[in-house]
Amino acid sequence: MSTLRSVAVVVGSLRKASFNRKMAHALMDLAPPTLAMSIVEIGDLPLYNQDLETESPPAPWQAFRNAIRAADAVLFVTPEYNRSIPGVLKNAIDVGSRPPVRNVWTAKPGAVISVTSGALGAFGANHALRQALVAVNVATMPHPEAYIANAASLFDETGKLVSDGTRDFLVKFLTAFEKWVERNAASAQTS
Ligand code: FNR
Repeated sequence: MSTLRSVAVVVGSLRKASFNRKMAHALMDLAPPTLAMSIVEIGDLPLYNQDLETESPPAPWQAFRNAIRAADAVLFVTPEYNRSIPGVLKNAIDVGSRPPVRNVWTAKPGAVISVTSGALGAFGANHALRQALVAVNVATMPHPEAYIANAASLFDETGKLVSDGTRDFLVKFLTAFEKWVERNAASAQTS
């Protein structure tokens, strides 16, 4: 039987009506009981500046680092900005990665979903994020890939997911992620 695993969900958009945030909520609603998923906010993190890396770094950095460190796994839900990830998301990854001996991402199992109102599924952001996750040693699930396009047609005005096809895909994605987390969580705890 699978152990209960906590999953930090990191959303790459700060927009109130964000489709990525709606997607994060849809994922949390559909999550299997073994995955306890909650959003860890990134909007109040000061921009990374090594000069602030003193004995008392900014409180929002410390709170974020503690929240990611406490999670068994990480799930990123991101839009694409100019064929890459939004600066706020890159900032969060950088904040969590320093100092290197206390990189909070290291060896955690993770996964990436990219969501866009455009037609191309935010492929560029998805892979730019995967590239950064290699550097911080996240064990990113290779498959299934998740490029969610035309997001405006997937949710109703209350933010509820109304696409049956997308719901079916998310259930498959989460089933694979549950197995991925279970397979990789042990190494995260011993690293
Ligand atoms: C975008 N958008 C966008 N979309 C895309 O598919 N590829 C891209 O390269 C870009 N570039 C881009 C740059 C900037 C600065 C903005 C503000 C937007 C559109 C973007 O993906 C779309 O607005 C999403 O709906 C944003 O995600 P949220 O906020 O709805 O989660």
